[in-house]
Amino acid sequence: MDDTLAPAAPLAPSAPGSLSDRRAIRELPDELISQIAAGEVVERPSSVVRELVDNALDAGGTQIQLKLIAGGIRSLIVEDDGHGIPDGELPLAIKRHATSKIGSLDDLEAVATMGFRGEALAAVSSVAELAIVSRHTGASHAWRLDARSGELSPAARARGTSVEVRELFFNTPARRKFLKSEGTELAHCLEALRRHALARPDVGFAVWHEGKLVDQWRAAPLPQRISEVLNEDFIAQSREVFHEVGPLRVHGRVGLPEAARSRADMQYVYVNGRYVRDKLIAHAIRSAFDDVLHGHRQPTYVLFIDVQPELVDVNVHPTKIEVRFRDGREIHQQVRRAVVAALALSRSDESPQAAAPDAPTAAPTGNGRERWTGTPAWERPMAVAGEPAAPYQPPAPYDAPSARFAGPEGWRAPIPTRAQTALALEQAEALYASASQGGLPTATGAGSGLDAGARSAYGPGTASPSALAAFGTAPAGPLPASQAGEWPLGRAIAQIQGVYVLAENAQGLVIVDMHAAHERVVYERLKTALGETRIESQPLLIPVTFAATPAEIATAEAQAETLQRLGLDIAPLSAKVLAVRERPALLAGGDVVDLARGVLAELAQFDASHAIERAQHEILATMACHGAVRANRQLTLDEMNALLRDMERTERADQCNHGRPTWRQLTLRDLDALFLRGR
Ligand SMILES: Nc1ncnc2c1ncn2[C@@H]1O[C@H](COP(=O)(O)OP(=O)(O)OP(=O)(O)O)[C@@H](O)[C@H]1O
Ligand SMILES: [Mg+2]
Repeated sequence: MDDTLAPAAPLAPSAPGSLSDRRAIRELPDELISQIAAGEVVERPSSVVRELVDNALDAGGTQIQLKLIAGGIRSLIVEDDGHGIPDGELPLAIKRHATSKIGSLDDLEAVATMGFRGEALAAVSSVAELAIVSRHTGASHAWRLDARSGELSPAARARGTSVEVRELFFNTPARRKFLKSEGTELAHCLEALRRHALARPDVGFAVWHEGKLVDQWRAAPLPQRISEVLNEDFIAQSREVFHEVGPLRVHGRVGLPEAARSRADMQYVYVNGRYVRDKLIAHAIRSAFDDVLHGHRQPTYVLFIDVQPELVDVNVHPTKIEVRFRDGREIHQQVRRAVVAALALSRSDESPQAAAPDAPTAAPTGNGRERWTGTPAWERPMAVAGEPAAPYQPPAPYDAPSARFAGPEGWRAPIPTRAQTALALEQAEALYASASQGGLPTATGAGSGLDAGARSAYGPGTASPSALAAFGTAPAGPLPASQAGEWPLGRAIAQIQGVYVLAENAQGLVIVDMHAAHERVVYERLKTALGETRIESQPLLIPVTFAATPAEIATAEAQAETLQRLGLDIAPLSAKVLAVRERPALLAGGDVVDLARGVLAELAQFDASHAIERAQHEILATMACHGAVRANRQLTLDEMNALLRDMERTERADQCNHGRPTWRQLTLRDLDALFLRGR
């Protein structure tokens, strides 16, 4: 490579735009105008996919096929079985500002079609070779229009339209250079199709690349479409969202915290059926995860927001990927509520037990929180704290065109049941494999509670029995076996390696991560306590002192008030020592010094004015982690049962504060599969 310094090329004195050489103002030729417009609309082959599939859907297509060559750069064909275009209108279809979709400003304000600008085909035909073959409803044969020559000729095809786009950017080589590898462009095209496919499960889609079928989705209910388009786990690891306020409807599915990803690549938001990227909505959804998802984990969701078309402006971006809401705040609030409500339903609510007609119904507890009601989640109205629950209205099955953007979810079978909450068979098999390699885990405590003496034998560093004051609300004594089936999380039977609690319920085996579960329970209690006024503190008989860093001392002094609200009294005893005199009553069992250090570290990140809710929740999570029962602590059966009952009572008990699951169900079917029974 020659990297000697070449003399810089002199600036061309008459480069366009140079001030010294002013040109006269003139109108640009049509072709150039379209090419400029194409710069906004057509970035890469996937943009063409988006536009052509929009058109196919607007034409009422029910089967849409995409055929690609070389990632869509060489050739890209979209075929539909829609109403087609009459031959007389074909030349107009590729003209700029020619559309059949709107005719007035009023139409624009209430637009219900994907397209309305009348520029997509014109833009594409200005940067690629384009041909349309279309047979209009009732026409005896099809017509083919070659965009470049304008030639119209008879052709053969069934009702519908094929649009062929070849050699994208052949006449704008600079733009062609921006394209990535064929593989990358193909991936973008597939993603564009996925976005459509998720929004329109009632339409069948198929995509071919270089003659090979890459993906095919037949018309299906939404949950099935989602699991086919995204992945099979999505449904199992997500909750249904359904929230309706007047004409506003938010529905779809949102992934559980444990399904969160490091990339924001499974976030689909649709406004009136149109895929959008909207910061406001993304923020509303993320904020609903504040409690359960820390750090940079990205939630997953497929969410449909349906509003009256008049309340949203879709004409703010050339590719329509952004929208503007007339009342953004309201949308933000409702979207957040919808997601919060979906996440708050404890997973135990969705266990098949709940569907049993004779399932027990616990009395409401009066504190406004979701409780076990014995009614399956899908049959219950979404109760939003502080709001009367609206009676449940099953969404209308998809019924185009009147319900065109009503968010098609024709199928609302009670799917989040045992198959979804159970461990996947592979996981179970992996469990089995590891158990058989490393020796089977030993169950301890089965059938007998440890007595106090045995418990104290676990020595210093393990929590005292009072550590479990937090879950002392269970009925005393082991549950009679007959009653066990009535508890969603069942009856405790054993503890494994000081980490997991095993319980038996009607479906089979429940495995609980005891630390994670207790942490969740404690966290929710702290949150309620803080929400009420302040967290109740408990004075220590003898203050606990510890050597503190200057930063810790400074924080303790600056944040004394916040610490008080958190139920902590931490004050300097000397220049290098802090003393803890009070700690939250809810955290009676944990290590006081650990707790104090953890909270101070958390508080040090925020200045005094920065006492925002978000931070508080993170601090509470830290506190809960320090206060929760440690792994390696032996529990009695009573304590285990108390934990299970507390989990059932606690919102979101199925995920710990770090987004990990707190319990899993192994159904009898899973167990049978492990032992190859019944095959
Ligand atoms: N697949 C198709 N089936 C039937 N008619 C079509 C199809 N594709 C395009 N048309 C007709 O051609 C017209 C122009 O399409 P084009 O995509 O350029 O504009 P548009 O869809 O009206 O608006 P936008 O630029 O916002 O997409 C459409 O209004 C429609 O009448
Ligand atoms: Mg269009």
